[in-house]
Amino acid sequence: MKETIDRLRSEGLERIKAAESDSDIEAIRVALLGRKGEITALLRGLKDVDPADRPAMGAELNLLKVDLTALLDSRQCVLRGGGSATNMVGDLTLPGVPPTSGGTNHPLLSVLDSICDIFYGMGFTRDDGPEVELDYYNFTALNFPDDHPARDIQDTFYIDPKICLRTQTSPVQVRTMERNEPPLACIFPGRVYRNENADASHSSEFYQIEGLVVDKAVSMADLKDTVDTFVRNFFGAEEPTRFRPHYFPFTEPSVEVDMQCVSCRGKGCGVCGQTGWLEVMGAGMVHPNVFKAAGYPDDVYTGFAFGMGIDRIAMLKYGIGDIRLLYENDLRFLKQFRGVS
Ligand code: PHE
Repeated sequence: MKETIDRLRSEGLERIKAAESDSDIEAIRVALLGRKGEITALLRGLKDVDPADRPAMGAELNLLKVDLTALLDSRQCVLRGGGSATNMVGDLTLPGVPPTSGGTNHPLLSVLDSICDIFYGMGFTRDDGPEVELDYYNFTALNFPDDHPARDIQDTFYIDPKICLRTQTSPVQVRTMERNEPPLACIFPGRVYRNENADASHSSEFYQIEGLVVDKAVSMADLKDTVDTFVRNFFGAEEPTRFRPHYFPFTEPSVEVDMQCVSCRGKGCGVCGQTGWLEVMGAGMVHPNVFKAAGYPDDVYTGFAFGMGIDRIAMLKYGIGDIRLLYENDLRFLKQFRGVS
């Protein structure tokens, strides 16, 4: 067996040196180390070797395997342009094989970046707030009554009775108004948390982006124009939008904004539940009580606010059917977004 090992070592070395492509490397790898490869066969044959010689033979064979694997990797590295051909011969102190593909932005981050860019283009600035938030900012200052169901621990993760994980990015509205004089146009992206059971469309953590505009004489027409500009820019076409009356404690009047289904263009399909419309965000005119909480004179200023789920927007944009895919960090999923923005 010793002679066979020596022969395989010198032949292997010659063949690897002569390899000219990735497929040559793969062919040698299979012939020597594959399931039916020569070295694999020898390793299997160890059980028939004289027990006295077996440990030494096993060690030799393993060394051969390790050396040839290193040589194959090293030659592959050279062939891919990662080093000099004169360095390759079995020097394990050489730098490792360089990664052939770099990392990439997570699809949520790409979507977040492009949403922010659209609003920066309209003159918005950006602000952030804490994810561990006072109940006061998450609810009270936003005009939630004390007995509002969203305050229930069924819906909200409480850390103690006065502190929770924010359930929405809306508390940043109040924090920003406290720190800045009007007029302002600001977006607040970030992670939010809700006490939900995970399924294809729910996750206990997800992302929102909030927008707030305050000035003298800001109207619902300004909100509509801002939303339309966003939808047109993000989804790329003249997607019609519509406002449906809704209720949020911190806006009055409140609406939900729908856009025409990107999949069927309004005809009705599985994506939009046959309605032809997709909900994109909640919005409305800032409630006077929110201005009061933030210290703005509510008889001088008006404003609008909107908030949308980034996960949902990413799912619509890329046709992702299950929100959990965005949080599992499965490389097979993430790699599909390489080069996508
Ligand atoms: N915070 C609301 C939600 O999480 C969305 C919203 C933001 C609605 C701003 C109106 C104005 O559903």
